[in-house]
Amino acid sequence: MQAHYAFIGGGNMGRALIGGLVAAGQPASTITVADSEAGARAACGERFGVTTTADNLAAVRNADVVVLAVKPQQLGAVARALAAAVPSDALVVSIAAGITLEHLAAWLGEQRAVVRAMPNTPALIGRGASALIANTHTDDAQRARAAALLDAVGASVWLDDETQMDAVTALSGSGPAYYFLFIELMEAAAVELGLPAALARDLALATARGATELAQQSDQTPAELRRQVTSPGGTTERALASFADDDLAGIVRRALTAARDRSVELAAQVSS
Ligand SMILES: NC(=O)c1ccc[n+]([C@@H]2O[C@H](COP(=O)([O-])OP(=O)(O)OC[C@H]3O[C@@H](n4cnc5c(N)ncnc54)[C@H](OP(=O)(O)O)[C@@H]3O)[C@@H](O)[C@H]2O)c1
Repeated sequence: MQAHYAFIGGGNMGRALIGGLVAAGQPASTITVADSEAGARAACGERFGVTTTADNLAAVRNADVVVLAVKPQQLGAVARALAAAVPSDALVVSIAAGITLEHLAAWLGEQRAVVRAMPNTPALIGRGASALIANTHTDDAQRARAAALLDAVGASVWLDDETQMDAVTALSGSGPAYYFLFIELMEAAAVELGLPAALARDLALATARGATELAQQSDQTPAELRRQVTSPGGTTERALASFADDDLAGIVRRALTAARDRSVELAAQVSS
């Protein structure tokens, strides 16, 4: 039998996941979306043909999988209100940044199967990178369902220790912004070197895409690919030496550490 999905929150990320599920063959008739905002309900209903409601409790009543896709600051109240209504054998998947399995257990009940997921914004175009962690009440079939949900919008990996989620947040959660910044900076530098802005952006974007796809498809590591394009005495070598002089490795390490530390701080601020 097809599993029934209830989404609480049909905003950006909720819609990306619903779109992924439907594209992967999940019938729209098995998906219910609850959202307090009429525009989000209309968008989900029109785009995917799913059932929509403003009533969170009604949405979860017959659900096998409940996906919590509201903002982290809204989640405590939403989850507490849902606790008694979610069927006892249903899986709950939370995608809220900084909300731990411990918070979710406190709000939803200690015995419930819960998976915490950290997707990122390229999920909006089916190219996301997500990390997942399950609590001990989650069985293999539920883990497979959670992975299939996130795999439908990109790639996913399982963590075995929840403390890794803070490093994941620093790497893939915040990571798209680092790449956007690098593209911006390369474009700006190329404009200073005399290229028209539109042309510089097109080349910077195509280069980012080509380099990441080459690195993904290649058997070689990114370091090996880099060495191959670094001819002795050439232009790339000169640029890489400039990066090293400016301690790019340290810059990146400090930035990810700052993001990781902020993730720890934000989780500590959520009250159970
Ligand atoms: N976007 C990302 O890149 C990203 C990445 C990783 C994780 N996440 C996580 O994904 C979650 C959703 O993010 P988002 O960007 O999709 O947010 P969003 O666009 O604001 O979507 C959340 C939706 O839930 C609705 N809502 C608020 N309170 C509700 C309630 N009590 N009952 C039912 N619906 C309610 C909101 O309506 P209103 O607008 O009226 O509040 C909104 O339509 C967040 O927890 C975030 O941490 C997002």
